[in-house]
Amino acid sequence: MWHSDILNTIGNTPVVQLNQLAEGLSCRVLVKLESFNPGGSVKDRIGVAMILAAENSGQLKPNGTLIEATSGNTGVGIAQAARAKGYRCIFALTEKVSQEKRDLLRAFGAELVICPTDVPHDDPRSYYSVAEKIAAEEQGGIYLNQYFNEANVNAHYQTTGPEIWQQTQGQITHFFATASTGGTISGSARYLKEQNAKISVIGIDPCGSTYYKYFHEGIIDPDEIYSHQIEGAGKEYLAGNMHMDLVDDYIRVSDRDAMHMARRLVKEEAIFVGPSSGLALAGALEWLEKHGQELAPDALALVLLPDSGMRYMSKTFNDRWMQANNLN
Ligand SMILES: Cc1ncc(COP(=O)(O)O)c(C=O)c1O
Repeated sequence: MWHSDILNTIGNTPVVQLNQLAEGLSCRVLVKLESFNPGGSVKDRIGVAMILAAENSGQLKPNGTLIEATSGNTGVGIAQAARAKGYRCIFALTEKVSQEKRDLLRAFGAELVICPTDVPHDDPRSYYSVAEKIAAEEQGGIYLNQYFNEANVNAHYQTTGPEIWQQTQGQITHFFATASTGGTISGSARYLKEQNAKISVIGIDPCGSTYYKYFHEGIIDPDEIYSHQIEGAGKEYLAGNMHMDLVDDYIRVSDRDAMHMARRLVKEEAIFVGPSSGLALAGALEWLEKHGQELAPDALALVLLPDSGMRYMSKTFNDRWMQANNLN
């Protein structure tokens, strides 16, 4: 049996039980490994979905140019689908994006514009503003805008959520995910809650992002917005695809704890994933430990791990970088 093209291999990523790191918890913990997608991350799902939606709406014409603001993984997902379909890509990235991801995007033939990390999202120098400006100036160019594009949430509603439901045979009780655009958590949560309204959805935020405080206090506190080292997770404003009404609790985790959990995952479970996966798992284990007494005997937790550790060899998995950033 073979696939008609590479895009047909997206999704149906494996779910694996944790055997060491969940020891002592009162419930089974599963992880869903999005690094098994052909482009190496959860964002393959939305790359192809946003392009299909733009084609179907007539906005994207043959030989058009796709423009996006991305922390890298969405860029890979878009570039992969664009290569297969013959579109040009231009991506605005922040300086924080790892060298591995930049090299990968260039390997797919994407053109990159690197923007400063520490500027407000509405500053003309921000990667969002730069992407918008390029799209306005580029003939046949469209800004996909994963932060507000409904095809993002829909992709997870149509694929990630149903896969989780089927792979756990409808027994999942707690779903944990980190959020940036909010597409993964919102789309999966919507599908899962439609199957069983009792499923709890818990978000995990990096310290320095707005979602944790917004969830608990309903405010965006500028004093709590600062740069952090977890690529792809968290946001400094409320993205349009972040549907907080589908989330039951929010927890936050420091850069150090997230990085160390990613390093423990490969040493103790032989699962090699990136820092946002470490963030999601560190938060999930902390939450499950804290709420252990309230969990039913048949509780089943699933944590979504967005990408692979290969993308962070020069950062999370480099002792010198960890030391230089006071993360050791
Ligand atoms: C590594 C990584 N983790 C987590 C996320 C968050 O996913 P979402 O944008 O669906 O909320 C992203 C998004 O770019 C990511 O690249």
